[in-house]
Amino acid sequence: MKKIVLDTYEEVSRAAADIYTRQLKEKPGSVLGLATGSTPLGLYAELVRRYQAGEIDFSRARSFNLDEYYPIGGDHPQSYKYFMYENLFNRINLADSQLPDGEAGDPRAECKRYDAAIEAAGGIDLMLLGIGHNGHIGFNEPASSYSMGTHYIDLTESSIAANSRFFTDGGTQPVKALSMGVGAIMESKSVLLIITGAGKAAIAKKLFEGRIYTDVPACFLLLHPDATVIMDRAANGG
Ligand code: PGA
Repeated sequence: MKKIVLDTYEEVSRAAADIYTRQLKEKPGSVLGLATGSTPLGLYAELVRRYQAGEIDFSRARSFNLDEYYPIGGDHPQSYKYFMYENLFNRINLADSQLPDGEAGDPRAECKRYDAAIEAAGGIDLMLLGIGHNGHIGFNEPASSYSMGTHYIDLTESSIAANSRFFTDGGTQPVKALSMGVGAIMESKSVLLIITGAGKAAIAKKLFEGRIYTDVPACFLLLHPDATVIMDRAANGG
């Protein structure tokens, strides 16, 4: 895993955007794996800026997001679909963008459909990831075994607690989700993990200890042949 440490969140966001700029120049029809959360917001803002400045073109590219709550409507402000349209899809020219459907009648059938759609697209070229405080990637939470494909899961107490700050409008917070599996992530041709902020320093330290902790799902990325992590100094321990 290639590790890049930069001083600030802004520098991390620009360095991550450089990777997208290069990726789309080399392969305009790239299949992008995308993530939600606070970490990629700076990257998405920078991609929008570069698109508006004519520096990057997504018109032949497609995207698949990592995960979505279940059940949740795409028009719910806390749905990942809403987040992605607000922060990225409405502002750039991606040819197609998909997320697992939080409104699908049969969530398990939706998982199968999503995996088939990724496969039909030729797999993911560049997978973007954040990391949870517990080492989760997507909603692949610490466990004794991990799903290969997209799966329908119960969120852990820690993920529900971490996200409860977003569900303050009195609506019900979903306790289930649809998430890409570790297999789809590992089959991506390249992976970009972004880790920022002092709050992530402990899990980042564990990730780079030189051991594969089976209860830290992000440790699988250490085995990926083309994985890059970009961190700010705070996440690297200051
Ligand atoms: P965050 O979430 O970017 O909001 O810290 C990352 C994650 O939980 O995967």
